[in-house]
Amino acid sequence: MDMDSTNVATEAVVEIVPGPAKEQRPPQKRRERVRNSIGVLVETLRIFEAVREAAEEEEQKEQSPKTSEDEAEVLEDKIQILSDSTSSGRVTRKRKFFSSNLILQSDSTSPGRGTRQRKPRKKKKKKVPEEVDHPNLLKYWSRRYQLFSKFDGGIQLDQESWFSVTPEEIAKHVAERCRQCDVVVDAFCGAGGNTIQFALNCRRVIAVDIDPAKILLAANNARVYGVQDKIEFICADFMQVAASLKADAIFLSPPWGGPDYTQKQVFNLEDLSCVDAKEMFKVAKAVSENVVMYMPRNTNRKQLMSLAGVGNLVEIEQSVFRGKVVALTAYFGKLIDSNF
Ligand SMILES: C[S@@+](CC[C@H](N)C(=O)[O-])C[C@H]1O[C@@H](n2cnc3c(N)ncnc32)[C@H](O)[C@@H]1O
Repeated sequence: MDMDSTNVATEAVVEIVPGPAKEQRPPQKRRERVRNSIGVLVETLRIFEAVREAAEEEEQKEQSPKTSEDEAEVLEDKIQILSDSTSSGRVTRKRKFFSSNLILQSDSTSPGRGTRQRKPRKKKKKKVPEEVDHPNLLKYWSRRYQLFSKFDGGIQLDQESWFSVTPEEIAKHVAERCRQCDVVVDAFCGAGGNTIQFALNCRRVIAVDIDPAKILLAANNARVYGVQDKIEFICADFMQVAASLKADAIFLSPPWGGPDYTQKQVFNLEDLSCVDAKEMFKVAKAVSENVVMYMPRNTNRKQLMSLAGVGNLVEIEQSVFRGKVVALTAYFGKLIDSNF
């Protein structure tokens, strides 16, 4: 047999074979076709209704939403229940379209599955604590994470501490400069702003405060930073206990007398209300030659320099917070920067 002629014959057969059974179907009667179309329309409307209900439910759930995938599942289930009642193939196709359309709308987290963005979730506003809920103090509340980056870990402050705590970046900088010190005394520890940073940088800290409430706050805040075990807290008047202390450095941040210090053109050492500055410095030097003093930005610099004694050096650093000089930090003894 001639192979070439067989191939040609086969192709010819394929071309002349009539179409599949589909083409042989008897023509549908007009009334039946109309009835089917109405059925499809009714089903489509029901699906629209389900879509609308599901969208409403989704909106209601936005306050306490489940994961997007859970929501998509819920929506699919809803459509599935409704669409089980359909029988027509055309409706099934539409059902699929609506179902996936719903997923697109509800599942904004799945990349590539939809473009419609979920409304941004409203952030729960943190309640302002009572002690800082005052027009003059609210600015400190808005800076809470600059005071303590781990504020949300459970930091506690009383009213005085809100405006007297050393901002974390400054406290960190001072502590880093004392890194070579084994033991540091924080003579006026307050709520622990400096104490915590010293504990993070040195082996041991002795934290003193005259106010028992401050000691409790400082201990709590040290726990938030996980450094409580490195700190010995002493509730006492520093001037009274200083003689019993020995350290490699001592940090002095006595109270400045509240935010009013800014009203003065020059803050003199005599303006410290709780302690005699010269006496405090003398007592501190007996604990360690290496003294750091954290004072208002408008402190009389000549007075600060005179504390060092004739022929001795003092390094006065401007401490900047939020782009503004907020304090002067004076370093005495070996803490003076050797490049200074
Ligand atoms: C400016 S605050 C210290 C703030 C601290 N550096 C911080 O960052 O949290 C001053 C603290 O000194 C305490 N104080 C005042 N007189 C004192 C004294 N004689 N001995 C010890 N502490 C004293 C106050 O109770 C207050 O907590």
